[in-house]
Amino acid sequence: MSAKTVAFFGATGGCANATLVHSLLAGYEVSALARTPSKLTSQLLAQGLGQETLDRQLTVVHGDATNVEDVKRTLLPNGKLVSFIVSGLGGAPVLQMSIRQPLTNDNPDICASSAETILKALQEIHTEHAATAPEKPLLVYISTTGISNGPQDVPFGFRFLYHVLLAVAHEDKRKMESILRLHMANPNERERLLRGVVGVRASLLTGGVDYRTGKGWQTLKVGTEEEPAVGYTVARPDVGQWIFEEVVKKDAGDWIGKIATLTS
Ligand SMILES: NC(=O)c1ccc[n+]([C@@H]2O[C@H](COP(=O)([O-])OP(=O)(O)OC[C@H]3O[C@@H](n4cnc5c(N)ncnc54)[C@H](OP(=O)(O)O)[C@@H]3O)[C@@H](O)[C@H]2O)c1
Repeated sequence: MSAKTVAFFGATGGCANATLVHSLLAGYEVSALARTPSKLTSQLLAQGLGQETLDRQLTVVHGDATNVEDVKRTLLPNGKLVSFIVSGLGGAPVLQMSIRQPLTNDNPDICASSAETILKALQEIHTEHAATAPEKPLLVYISTTGISNGPQDVPFGFRFLYHVLLAVAHEDKRKMESILRLHMANPNERERLLRGVVGVRASLLTGGVDYRTGKGWQTLKVGTEEEPAVGYTVARPDVGQWIFEEVVKKDAGDWIGKIATLTS
């Protein structure tokens, strides 16, 4: 069995869930933080994974992604720091009585605060385990199109939806990206807590939680922040599989330090 170990945040969401399933099928050891552990295990069993696979390869940590102790337990399954972190955290849209901002989010700073929590947890782990100097993990986060500083990555027909209706969720994603970018910009390599970061900006997500229902990661249009792939939608299972194939399996390959835009 490979020594790769992957920690997941937001694994009951369709994108990260698909990455988790592919990681289990590849034989990797996986830990996942879940607010409702039974929700995650039911999703996995419903996709045909066996209970023995879950018992052998999966550690589910009951907790919250903004709690440092819960995050540390997820990053240190069996006492050893994981080699990859996948974050697909997000809030749920909530309607509100406002003409200017009719849509908000039940958890408007979950992405930014969990990014800070992961860094704090890693800092404490490195301090507490300084004697063994654990290898730094690579982090991949799932973000969104519509927040780029580069060329337009949202098709014309979706710009109102993106820039007005989804403004609250997008502000959180911007902050998360900025926290991680600033951390990795530290010129002192020893002070960086991650060996690399890969950003994934997906277009509007479709589909649910079932890795078997995508069209396949190789059907996706893939761009970068500088040359984005522009499209309307992308299926969650395909985003998750792309992350598995291009980031987890290949140790990020050419994507390290970059942002991928994914659409179908
Ligand atoms: N909707 C779109 O069209 C779209 C487009 C581009 C990008 N995105 C972003 O892409 C990412 C992945 O989306 P998705 O649809 O695959 O997943 P999702 O349905 O948004 O799932 C969000 C995940 O975050 C977890 N979560 C939220 N708050 C938490 C907390 N405090 N502690 C622990 N877990 C928490 C949820 O757990 P529970 O099961 O406990 O709720 C769930 O697993 C999200 O960030 C989403 O905003 C969305």
